[in-house]
Amino acid sequence: MKEYEFTDQDFEHLRRFIAHKTGIAIAENKRELVYGRIARRLRATGLDSFAEYRRLLESGHSEELEEFINVITTNLTSFFRERHHFDYLRDTLLPELLQKHRHRRLRIWSAGCSTGEEAYSIAISALECRQVLAARDRIQIIATDLDSSVVAKARSGVYEQERIESLDRQLVKKYFLKGRGHNAGRVRIKPEVAELIEFSQLNLMEPWPFDEPFDVIFCRNVIIYFDLPTQARLVDRFAGSLDPNGYLFIGHSETLNKVSDRFELLGKTIYRRVR
Ligand SMILES: C[S@@+](CC[C@H](N)C(=O)[O-])C[C@H]1O[C@@H](n2cnc3c(N)ncnc32)[C@H](O)[C@@H]1O
Repeated sequence: MKEYEFTDQDFEHLRRFIAHKTGIAIAENKRELVYGRIARRLRATGLDSFAEYRRLLESGHSEELEEFINVITTNLTSFFRERHHFDYLRDTLLPELLQKHRHRRLRIWSAGCSTGEEAYSIAISALECRQVLAARDRIQIIATDLDSSVVAKARSGVYEQERIESLDRQLVKKYFLKGRGHNAGRVRIKPEVAELIEFSQLNLMEPWPFDEPFDVIFCRNVIIYFDLPTQARLVDRFAGSLDPNGYLFIGHSETLNKVSDRFELLGKTIYRRVR
């Protein structure tokens, strides 16, 4: 027996609402997942039924809409996830781009940054690049996510020690501070890494506030949650926000096949804009 009644209509309605607000396509077999996550919000708001909860969302209650979105997103991430992307950035791309664009800064966007590990991995890779050392102020990293709670966590730069256990000891020493006292068991990203990044909340389905093009966009393990037309629209907007030869990194289980012809594949889910 379920704690709350959850009808087909509730499920259908919420699926449509989620797709409309976030682009996230919930598969039909994800009913239990949706039930479990939203039941948490019913408990938190003290409402008695999904019908009442739907009415609250549809009334345009912005605080609850934010909480709702935060329970719907899947935020799995880690430091240096898909390591080859960061090696390529450090060893090939940044030296090349710094050389090519001598008179301006390089702009990198972590779109769908979750709790920040991707953006900090980009910043650490940049600081590990010899050419960047003399030109730190030429690197700007923008990191955004739909989910306001993960953006807050990302901005804090504080992580449980086990999140960095598999990282190279040298890197840990160089870029993380060990917590003491009531912060024992935690680490904090050093300020020289954090200062390269600006975190903010942004829904990729809505207008973007950027007026300068990006050189590199990381949007990894995000489009996998969208249907094909939504992916196509988003990737087209990424192309439009990139420098004419800019780069797009996507997740290992994602592809731009059938999604966009504006990019060529360089290998290992790294793409370059061609039109
Ligand atoms: C699985 S995480 C990926 C994190 C990181 N990019 C990585 O690869 O480790 C997916 C992230 O996409 C975000 N997301 C989903 N829909 C979004 C949207 N419409 N706009 C912005 N971010 C979105 C989620 O909040 C979540 O944090």
